[in-house]
Amino acid sequence: MKNLIAANWKMNPNSQKEAKEIFDAIREGTKGLDPEVVVCPPSVYLYASGFGEGIIAMGAQNVYFEEKGAFTGEISAGMLKDLGIEYVIIGHSERRKYFGETDETVNKKIKIALAVGLKIIFCVGETAEERDGGKKNEVLKRQVQNGLKDVFDIDNVNVAYEPVWAIGTGNNCGVAETKEALDFIRQLVKKDTRILYGGSVKSENSGEYIKDAGANGLLVGGASLNADEFVKIIKSAE
Ligand code: PGA
Repeated sequence: MKNLIAANWKMNPNSQKEAKEIFDAIREGTKGLDPEVVVCPPSVYLYASGFGEGIIAMGAQNVYFEEKGAFTGEISAGMLKDLGIEYVIIGHSERRKYFGETDETVNKKIKIALAVGLKIIFCVGETAEERDGGKKNEVLKRQVQNGLKDVFDIDNVNVAYEPVWAIGTGNNCGVAETKEALDFIRQLVKKDTRILYGGSVKSENSGEYIKDAGANGLLVGGASLNADEFVKIIKSAE
């Protein structure tokens, strides 16, 4: 099982030109390497970034749960598949927080994306409040079980453990605590499901998650917009 290193660019960068520059530099820097890498830019750049070249697969950051129709502003799983997109991030905490995503909509999105043959990066993670209140495992269990309810074809699902308090804060989760959470999630899914870690990953800490916490990959936000830094992270996970 190869490690999966995923870049979540979120709503960055500001221009097609910059997106292409970052993408080209990642492609250059990963020549001759052999991990699985996926770049998830804003959807308007999915086509323009020169996707699917080298070892890099392309991923979307979101998808809608209906097949087609009057859903202004949304993008379907079939459209992504038709464009040659391989992956989609589903259930990111920013989508849960700002866009009303629930376990139920996450579950519907996972099902429709799997049905067209997309691979999933399914995000789960507790908030600081839930962690402080001793509710971490309860939250993780609820998110994993509800998100994967009646999902029978789990081979194309990767789970990303992203503690909300660690995202974009520079306050990455410690190795021991990450290992505990990954082991807990592992009991809830099929044995060979890849479990990633995400939350303030940088090249200084990335290797530990793979080597010491047992992560099968990383979901990288801020640091993935710097191609040199992202390539270092990829190398640390080889
Ligand atoms: P970060 O984001 O690496 O900037 O903390 C991770 C994510 O949100 O996927």
